[in-house]
Amino acid sequence: MRIIRKLLMNSLAKLSRKPKASVSLKRLEGFTVDIGAGGEGVMAKACGRNTVGIDINKREINEARSRGSRAQWVLGDACSMPFRNGSFDAATFFFSLMYIKTTKRKLATFIEARRVLKSDGLLCLWAAIIGEKPGLHALFLEIRLPDNGEIFTGYGVRGTEKKQNLELINKLANKAGFTATSTEAHKNWIEAYFR
Ligand SMILES: C[S@@+](CC[C@H](N)C(=O)[O-])C[C@H]1O[C@@H](n2cnc3c(N)ncnc32)[C@H](O)[C@@H]1O
Repeated sequence: MRIIRKLLMNSLAKLSRKPKASVSLKRLEGFTVDIGAGGEGVMAKACGRNTVGIDINKREINEARSRGSRAQWVLGDACSMPFRNGSFDAATFFFSLMYIKTTKRKLATFIEARRVLKSDGLLCLWAAIIGEKPGLHALFLEIRLPDNGEIFTGYGVRGTEKKQNLELINKLANKAGFTATSTEAHKNWIEAYFR
C-alpha cells in the first residue's frame, strides 16, 4: 500500500509539475503543541501522545484522527490558543503557516507560540515558500518519521495574502521574541528552528 502511494505521489508530482520535498522528522523532547495539526496529523505520528494538536477546523481534526494520528486534539485558532503561558517544551508548524492568511495573522500565531512555550522552548517550522501569485501553491511531500515509517502526501493553498519566505518568517519570529538557531531554505520550502 505504501509503495503504491509513493508511486502515485511521484507520478502526480511529475504530471502536475508541482514541486516535491523530502522531509525527515526527529522525535521532539517533552510536551509539544502542533499548530494547524489536522489533515494528516503528521507531528502526532512523529512525536506520539505527548502532542497536543490544535486546528481551527473540526473536519481536519477528524480526518487526522481517522488516519491514525493519536494527538490530544483541541479545536481552536492559532491566533489565540486556549493554553496557559509556558505550557509546552516545543511548538511546531508543519506546513500550516501557509494556510494562515495575512502577515498580521501569521505574526499573531508566532506571538501565541512564544507565549505558550516555556522560556527555553523550541519552535520548529516547516513551510512552503509562497510568492505573490494568487494561483494554486502546491507541494508534494515525502516524509520520513522517526520510527522509519513514511508518509506521502500533498498540501496546497489558493489565494492572495498567503505570501511567505524565509526572510518574512525570520522577521515575524524575531518580532515575537524568537531567535533562529538553524534555518535551511530549499527551492520551494523551508525548515527552521527557533528558541
Ligand atoms: C493541511 S494542514 C497542514 C498539514 C498538517 N500539519 C498535517 O500534519 O497534515 C493545515 C491546517 O491548518 C489549519 N488551520 C488554518 N488556519 C488555522 C488557524 N488560524 N488556527 C488553527 N489551525 C488553522 C487548517 O484547518 C488545516 O487543517
